[in-house]
Amino acid sequence: MNVVLTEDVIDLPLVNESLFHTMAENIAHQGYSIHPNALPLNLLNQLHHHVHSMPDENFKRAGIGREDKLMLNQFVRKDEVCWINGESEAGQAWLSWAAELQRYLNRHLFLGLFSFESHFAHYSPGDFYKTHKDAFKGESNRIISLVVYLNPDWIKEDQGELVIYREESSDELVRVTPSFGTVAIFLSEDFPHEVLPANRDRYSIAGWFRVNGSGVNKVDPPR
Ligand code: OGA
Ligand code: MN
Repeated sequence: MNVVLTEDVIDLPLVNESLFHTMAENIAHQGYSIHPNALPLNLLNQLHHHVHSMPDENFKRAGIGREDKLMLNQFVRKDEVCWINGESEAGQAWLSWAAELQRYLNRHLFLGLFSFESHFAHYSPGDFYKTHKDAFKGESNRIISLVVYLNPDWIKEDQGELVIYREESSDELVRVTPSFGTVAIFLSEDFPHEVLPANRDRYSIAGWFRVNGSGVNKVDPPR
């Protein structure tokens, strides 16, 4: 589900300028930015409550590849996802927060981000997502990946880290613990990353800010 984010500010207290400022600085200088305890607590609680109140059937096995050539491959990824389309109050609050971030990044980095797509993801114990990139140059209009974690009381022994690698050398750059409220963003085309198996259920939201890929013969999005 692709959502064209509106420019309207619905809930100003959601916005933390200094967080957005650091994110923009980090993106400009190193291409990624990781922040524990970053998502506003009321939004976080709302999302956490929502993800646990949804029926299991809402989550579907995640695919790999481009939308038009989506494949299921349990050796690459094993999580289940539920796209966020703003039908719930929690989903709407999340999309408003993402809209503010999109606006901030556009103003400060001139990225021309145009739309945002995101899903809840559930990794059961042992599930993983092998090393991948979220976008390939010239093939996708995903520019920035955004992940937030909805797991209270996560401890080191629970594992399930997101590992981000340097593209050229495959060196590990950063290991992100999927703790409640941690926010990770990175340039979608630049960083291979993987999700390690966890010992408990692991919930996150993964989202992508996109540029408008409309051409002469193509309208993109909305879809
Ligand atoms: C993804 C992804 C990371 C995470 O969904 O593409 O890389 O930590 N998720 O959940
Ligand atoms: Mn990814």
